[in-house]
Amino acid sequence: QEQNEMADLLEPVMGRKVIVTGGTGYIGSHTVVELIAAGYEPVIIDNLYNSDISVLEGIRAITGVTPKFWDYDLCDSQKLEEVFRAEGKVDAIIHFAAYKAVGESVRKPLDYYRNNLTSLMNLLAAMDRHDTPALVFSSSCTVYGQPDTLPVTETSPVKEAASPYGYTKQAGETIIRDTIAARPAHKAVSLRYFNPIGAHPTAFIGELPRGVPENLVPYITQTAIGLRDELKVFGTDYDTPDGSCIRDYLHVVDLAKAHVMALRRMLDGENKAGYEVFNLGMGKGVSVLEAIAAFEKASGVKLKYTITGRRAGDIEKIWADPSLANRELGWKTEITIEEAMETAWRWENRLKNKE
Ligand code: UFG
Repeated sequence: QEQNEMADLLEPVMGRKVIVTGGTGYIGSHTVVELIAAGYEPVIIDNLYNSDISVLEGIRAITGVTPKFWDYDLCDSQKLEEVFRAEGKVDAIIHFAAYKAVGESVRKPLDYYRNNLTSLMNLLAAMDRHDTPALVFSSSCTVYGQPDTLPVTETSPVKEAASPYGYTKQAGETIIRDTIAARPAHKAVSLRYFNPIGAHPTAFIGELPRGVPENLVPYITQTAIGLRDELKVFGTDYDTPDGSCIRDYLHVVDLAKAHVMALRRMLDGENKAGYEVFNLGMGKGVSVLEAIAAFEKASGVKLKYTITGRRAGDIEKIWADPSLANRELGWKTEITIEEAMETAWRWENRLKNKE
């Protein structure tokens, strides 16, 4: 029954053009696939800073469509203007493009502020000039810091950011909220992602980390395939049942579908508030040790890991209350963590075979 409802919400809407910034990136590429499946016409803008042009082939292998692609930097407002002029009527923008490494942002704060905020402001100005009615913004559960109560709802307080990266998400949300408040005809949604993992089940697209991965799941799969010696578990002395940190891991395809549903809500007029915020998570806390166990079960591979000290800036535990997105967007996760780990493993193996 619920599956049918999800299918109805994803029924094709033909001919709507959506600019997807960062569309060759990890979450962006999976969203482009879901947009095509739902009948939209995605147009990608990406400067390939943290992605590869071969992702377009992956998208084509899955969907049969090669989306239009502009190799432009959003910080260049003239180039952005060129895209909007060339594309004509654009129905919506999904804005993924941003720098996203927490540690790097501490070392290079100005790079993060300049890149993440300039690009957003350029986009908002272009939306205004060209009367593009709707925007989806990639935000993060990082805006909550360590919440006082769990699970986290959208009304939980936004805490002082622990990194410049986190601050660009908070500031980005505020800039969008204020801009939309001044433009009654336009709408926007900020989606606060928890921890996206996994790859497309076809293994044609997935995560392509630059250098040594910072995130848990690519580190796990690279260790299992022999690219890294062992995983370091950053602390088992937290106040959690097994002592390791707790996160809300969700599959990237589930996450991608939420963007299509958010668009549908804005374009079909159900978003009455103008600007809205949704948590996107499974609604379940999973510890680092449980995540490792889920990987071992899904892959049949025994993972080599050691327990080391805490990583600076880590939150002890966080997971989402996704009921607002369940109710208002008609969205919920459908893929389990074991299935997600299985797709991550399939993708890592495919990368190895491509070498
Ligand atoms: N972890 C390890 N070993 C590793 C990597 C991670 O034990 O080698 C642990 C971390 O300590 C943490 C968990 O695995 O407990 C998840 O870590 P990730 O780096 O995968 O994810 P984070 O929750 O730290 O960060 C993610 C996004 C950020 C975002 C943040 C919001 O990567 O962009 O969530 O909380 F800001």
